Amino acid sequence: MNERTPLVAIGLMSGTSLDGIDAAILRTDGERIFDFGPNTTVPYYAAFRARLRGILGAAGDDGGQLESVVRDLTVKHASTVRFLLAENDMTASDIDLIGFHGHTIWHSPGEGITRQVGDGEHLSTLTKISVIDEFRSQDVAAGGQGAPLAPLFHAVMARDLEKPLAIVNLGGVANITWIGSASSDGGDERILAFDTGPGNAPIDDWIFSQTGKSFDEDGALASAGTADEAIIDAILDHPFYRQLPPKSLDRHTFDLAGLDSLSPADGAATLTKLTAASVARARQFLPEVPRRWLVAGGGRHNGSLMEALSTALGAPVETVESVGWNGDVLEAQAFAYLAVRSRYGLPLSLPETTGVAKPTTGGTFHKAPD
Ligand SMILES: Nc1ncnc2c1ncn2[C@@H]1O[C@H](COP(=O)(O)OP(=O)(O)O)[C@@H](O)[C@H]1O
Ligand SMILES: [Mg+2]
Repeated sequence: MNERTPLVAIGLMSGTSLDGIDAAILRTDGERIFDFGPNTTVPYYAAFRARLRGILGAAGDDGGQLESVVRDLTVKHASTVRFLLAENDMTASDIDLIGFHGHTIWHSPGEGITRQVGDGEHLSTLTKISVIDEFRSQDVAAGGQGAPLAPLFHAVMARDLEKPLAIVNLGGVANITWIGSASSDGGDERILAFDTGPGNAPIDDWIFSQTGKSFDEDGALASAGTADEAIIDAILDHPFYRQLPPKSLDRHTFDLAGLDSLSPADGAATLTKLTAASVARARQFLPEVPRRWLVAGGGRHNGSLMEALSTALGAPVETVESVGWNGDVLEAQAFAYLAVRSRYGLPLSLPETTGVAKPTTGGTFHKAPD
């Protein structure tokens, strides 16, 4: 095997929750992780969040705003990089590569479409650091779901943990990575990953429509309400839940219209329980029952959701901090790792993670200006 020079990469993630930009630094050769650097999260202001929300969807625009939102999104990513470097007495010359996920505005892999916006060329000009973007396109073009992409990073992070293990990411959409132990013939660890259903996004949207706040802080509103089981059962009847993995979701897959008659608290309780029930539905597809359920993503800060998840699974759930990971920036770290893998032509996805026919690399390289 070739020795690859370790690279220092910044991963940048703007997740479907529309909460802001996560940034994290790693030193890796694309297979092993040598160092974890500093990280940060820069929240979006409400006004920008509203503009970003305005370009989500099939057309990717609702009134000629796309170009200006993409420019501002890119500039905000550049500011995040500058802030992260300045806060830690680093400069652009300390960084080899940026993994720029961008923001997903439309994800419909069945139609061969996944669209992340953000201008990689512009980001490399602004930061004077080379950039990889377009992480999902090649996978979707090759017939994959284009998501989730963090599983290969989860696998390297979990290398020394006991298996089988489940990592649940509670982002705007929720997904699971299941990692089994190596086969007795010494083969690779087994892995299976897929989106489980809605995560925080429907809860956030509900809270926003009912209270004007951007999320249900600590799950307080949900804990004051009662879940409507009939609505949950109707949503769980969606064919997505019967579909075999790998599979992935768009933020807008589910029709949640039935909620309108509920009180703010009952709606929050219903959507919180729906996210937990969706993760529990995923169990039927796992090759073996996980020994541990490790939870990452912003949803792990929601006490009502964590409790609902534990109840739905009939098992204890732990945050990824219990194994020493940082659950707020795991996705950003994953895109730092994947940027380096892209640079070295290593696969970003496998048949078991996105359904792509064979291990597939991806990403587009934008060289820093000299
Ligand atoms: N203290 C908290 N209480 C409840 N929910 C929270 C809290 N902190 C974060 N969240 C939830 O986590 C979301 C952000 O999660 P994140 O992992 O960044 O998702 P994404 O990857 O989709 O951006 C927020 O929109 C919110 O729903
Ligand atoms: Mg986020």
